[in-house]
Formats: sequence, structure tokens, C-alpha cells
Amino acid sequence: MRPIPALALTFSLVALPALAQDARQIERMIEGRHGLMTLMAYELGKLGGMAKEETPYDAEVAGDAASNLSALASVLSPELFPKGSAVGEAEDSEALPAIWEKPDDFAQKISDMEEAAAKMQAAAGTDLASLQGAMRDLGAGCGSCHETYRQKD
Ligand code: HEC
Repeated sequence: MRPIPALALTFSLVALPALAQDARQIERMIEGRHGLMTLMAYELGKLGGMAKEETPYDAEVAGDAASNLSALASVLSPELFPKGSAVGEAEDSEALPAIWEKPDDFAQKISDMEEAAAKMQAAAGTDLASLQGAMRDLGAGCGSCHETYRQKD
């Protein structure tokens, strides 16, 4: 039997748990961002239903949904997209490599959405026309990021 070189042994003892920790952290971030996106879609759905006049306009429900959406948008951050969590690198990820190739543009898309969500927060409880006006930018905020940075189904 060949003796295991001390260096390799050290590597396996030190590096493996570190790698496992990284993998667990990546898994957590993917779960976290999926949860965040799901909740954003849930709140957006209430506003979208009213904007399309499929559900009756209710200032209080709209105002609450917009506040929640704005709070959720403020949690969205590049930190939820650690290196190694792109589609093909990690399970359940639809995040495209462009996120790490164009980090400034990705961060800009996050700020744009936060801004659109803040405008919606100001508009949603006012009246239906204001909500409908704010909906365009907000919807575009989700869509334009997905267009470039999310793998299509
Ligand atoms: C800055 C970019 C960006 C913005 C803004 C954004 N998303 Fe996403 N979204 C992504 C990426 C990237 C993914 C894929 C993430 C993954 O699979 O790990 C995603 C995934 C999703 C998913 C699928 C979640 C899952 O469980 O697979 C939903 C739903 C979603 N987004 C809804 C929204 C809604 C609604 C908005 C707007 C209110 C929005 N997103 C805004 C980038 C964005």
C-alpha cells in the first residue's frame, strides 16, 4: 500500500468539510431566493388581478400587497447569488451565468425593481388608475431581469 502523503491527508481533512459547507450555503441561498421570488409573485398576483380588473379594486388589500412587495424587493440582493449557484452548477437553479458576467447590470436590475416597487407602494392605495400606471414598470422590472438572467422553462 502506498502511504498517503501528509499533504493529501491534510487536504481531505480540512478542505472537504469546507467544500461541504460551501455546497450547503449555496443550497440555502437557492432555496432563499426561490422563496423570495415566490412571495414576490404572490403579492404581484394580487396587484395584477386588480390592474387587469379581474378582481375588484380594494385600496387596503392593494396597499398591503404593495408594502409587502416593496419589503421583499429590498431583500433581493446579489448576495443571494453566490458563485457556483448557476444553472448546471447547482441543483434547482435557473440562474444564468450572465449574472456573474455582468454583475453591475444585474445589480442595476435589482435597484430598478426596488424603485418600481417603491412607486407601486405610493400608488397602490390611491386608486385603480394609479395602481394600473405603476404596474407597467413593476411588471417590466420582473420581466426584464428574467429575460437576461433566468433560464426559460
Ligand atoms: C434582478 C433580477 C430579478 C428580478 C428583478 C426578479 N427576478 Fe424573479 N428570478 C430571477 C432569477 C435569476 C431567477 C432564477 C433563480 C434560481 O432558479 O435560482 C428568478 C426566479 C423567479 C421565480 C421562480 C422561483 C422558483 O421557485 O423557481 C419566480 C416565481 C420569480 N422569479 C418571480 C419574480 C417576480 C414576480 C418578480 C418581480 C416582482 C421578479 N421575479 C423579479 C431574477 C429576478
